[in-house]
Amino acid sequence: MKISVIKNTLDQVSTDLLVLPFSSDALKKEAEEVLLALGFDIQVLKDFKAEAGEVVVLYGGAKGHAAVRIALLGLGEGKTLEDWRKASVSIASKAVEMKLEKVAVDCSGIETLAASTGQSVATLAAALVEGCAVGSYRFDRLKSGKLDKKKSAGKPKEIAELVLRADAGLVEEIEKGAAEGKIVASCQKMARNLVNLPGNYLQAEDIAKAAVESGKKHGYDVTVFHKKEIESLGMGGLLAVNKGSFHPPTFTVLEHKPKGKANMVVALVGKGVTFDSGGISIKPSENMGEMKSDMSGAASVLGAVEAVVRLGLPLHVIGLIPATDNMPGGKAQTPGDVITTYSGITVEVGNTDAEGRLILADALTYAKEKYKPDVIIDVATLTGACIVALGYAVAALFSNNDKLADEIFQAGQQSGEKVWRMPLWDLYDEQIKSDVADVNNTGGRGAGSVTAAKFLEKFIDGHKNWAHIDIAGPSFLPKSGGKVSGGTGFGVSLLVELMKKWS
Ligand code: BES
Ligand code: MN
Ligand code: ZN
Repeated sequence: MKISVIKNTLDQVSTDLLVLPFSSDALKKEAEEVLLALGFDIQVLKDFKAEAGEVVVLYGGAKGHAAVRIALLGLGEGKTLEDWRKASVSIASKAVEMKLEKVAVDCSGIETLAASTGQSVATLAAALVEGCAVGSYRFDRLKSGKLDKKKSAGKPKEIAELVLRADAGLVEEIEKGAAEGKIVASCQKMARNLVNLPGNYLQAEDIAKAAVESGKKHGYDVTVFHKKEIESLGMGGLLAVNKGSFHPPTFTVLEHKPKGKANMVVALVGKGVTFDSGGISIKPSENMGEMKSDMSGAASVLGAVEAVVRLGLPLHVIGLIPATDNMPGGKAQTPGDVITTYSGITVEVGNTDAEGRLILADALTYAKEKYKPDVIIDVATLTGACIVALGYAVAALFSNNDKLADEIFQAGQQSGEKVWRMPLWDLYDEQIKSDVADVNNTGGRGAGSVTAAKFLEKFIDGHKNWAHIDIAGPSFLPKSGGKVSGGTGFGVSLLVELMKKWS
């Protein structure tokens, strides 16, 4: 998506769709005048209420105006960043639906909106660009088009050009925000594409390859440990999960070192299970295909590290991605097995479907030991119980540090990728005790997300600033009527927001 910021007057903006955003308040005060000036009938204002995300497209303005059509876009009361985001996503979805190539958004009211939302103009511009990218995203890489009778081939599938019309004094700030938004959007899109690729297109080696490519393109270090090296390291968790697989595991380490002094050393760990069948503790077949998304944490970590590099944040950031699929078979690990993880801690595998925590265990210990980070955050589609608790819009947050938990919560509010904190009380340890090993990888029926987090906590070797984010719900939207289904890239925006605060 090409983005430009221009100062033309509204009637000079040449575009397929000129978008006029209105808060309910501005609608009453200004809409009539603006519509009349552009030669449109004001009858539409009888119905248009400017609810957040509401869109009405109008045709046939006065002659001599450059826009082919205009759209009224509702911002609700215009008091929250969330409504602004919702509106941005909504107008982009509409444009893609209509197969429009060039969309212009009138940003005349952006300063007023900045004041009423308590945000900067640059932040609003970034959110607009991100929202447009989110709303116009479609995953069609695996569609051949051969059965498409309407022959929509050739028509634009996403918005090719976004024009922001701004008052002269704001151009620079809007450009700055838009450029940042564009980077985050592009990293989010990369994450979504990886999540949407099924198991026969994306195995552990392919995740490693994607990281290497990103590192080459944007100039940061990526090291891939292959099966032999993982064996030498003694990563017993990752190897145990990989036992039933035809494909070798990988452990990928991404590293961004800033040019000057780093403010902080940040380790980000992402679960990279390319397909989770459950292993011998096999999952029910209904919707099992959605388990191609079990590497969403890995995708978010890759996206976040790339974004940090491209934004040039002054942090030393390390991304750690253990990857494998989880398959049954004659060689697969079996329930009851006892394995030795990288830390030396032994684990009774009560359920082979609790595989994410086994591969994360190794990566967490490695991160702490090798990099001595100031903070460790892991991101994982870890438990179905998390969806039961919080649904498809919100991630669960666990942390042993109140300040870190608060910072992540705030980053969630600001980025729109919401998290809600759950407890890590020691009373839950009771559920993951093992008679034969140091710990069990399953904790029975209740509090499944908490016992998973308690398990991970054992592998950070007493680190005092760790957080675990369970993204099982918001990482992947099942097919339904409204929203675009599939991978969301949840985590990229959240982690970037957090790390921007630390910069
Ligand atoms: N990848 C799943 C969790 C998951 C479920 C993510 C649904 C997204 C949607 C994870 O590996 C898993 O299978 N967890 C088990 C743990 C249980 C066996 C203790 C679960 O949640 O059922
Ligand atoms: Mn599983
Ligand atoms: Zn899993």
